[in-house]
Amino acid sequence: MKIIRAKNYEDMSRKAANLISAQVILKPDSVLGLATGSTPIGIYQQLAEWYKKGDIDFSEVTTVNLDEYYGLTPQHHQSYHYFMQHEFFDHVNLSPEHTFLPDGMEQDHEKECTRYTALIYALGGIDLQLLGLGHNGHIGFNEPSDYFSTDVHLVNLTESTIHANQRFFASADDVPRQAYTMGIRTIFLANRILLAVSGKDKADIVRTAFLGKVTPTIPASILQLHPDVWIIGDEDALSEIPKGAVV
Ligand code: GLP
Repeated sequence: MKIIRAKNYEDMSRKAANLISAQVILKPDSVLGLATGSTPIGIYQQLAEWYKKGDIDFSEVTTVNLDEYYGLTPQHHQSYHYFMQHEFFDHVNLSPEHTFLPDGMEQDHEKECTRYTALIYALGGIDLQLLGLGHNGHIGFNEPSDYFSTDVHLVNLTESTIHANQRFFASADDVPRQAYTMGIRTIFLANRILLAVSGKDKADIVRTAFLGKVTPTIPASILQLHPDVWIIGDEDALSEIPKGAVV
């Protein structure tokens, strides 16, 4: 696991965008696993800026998103479809047929989980998976549990996640209680994983997840076992990681 220290949010975004950019430049038909949340917004802006300058071309890239709220239409302003469209897809030359997210409106859970899992495997797996980090150690929407999940599944969101995400909704009552998410195995099979993290409020969970025990009660801790993980964090998020820590 490589831990890269960035000065601040902008620097974190630029460093993370550099890794994604290198992936796409070296392998133009890469499959990128993408994430939502407030953390990656700066990364998407940086990539869009480089695209506009002609430095990066997404025409052959395919993207698969980690998760989507259950029951939100793609047009709903808090759906991850809407987020991706407005924060990233609208600003680069990704082909719309090459961007995928779980279908939050599919009520047949088994059908949707099977479809999305099969789609990812049919693409040949993920070259680079971008992740954020929840305050309780969740990745995608894989909440703390007594086992590691496998493939795409429907999860019940924890109170802590509903609370953390209510800032985007009118009230906590409006936050969906369930979501479709890639499982830990789906994420773990990515060739390379890039986790971006920012802010003092994430410092404790960064230390617990990456210097503590590997346990499904902290889902992100499993990343300690992956052969190619890059944690890019700003000073605040990495403030509890001793300088020179061997991880
Ligand atoms: C949501 C997403 C995660 C994201 C997390 C952290 O729950 N499902 O993929 O990593 O929030 O979000 P933020 O970056 O806003 O702290």
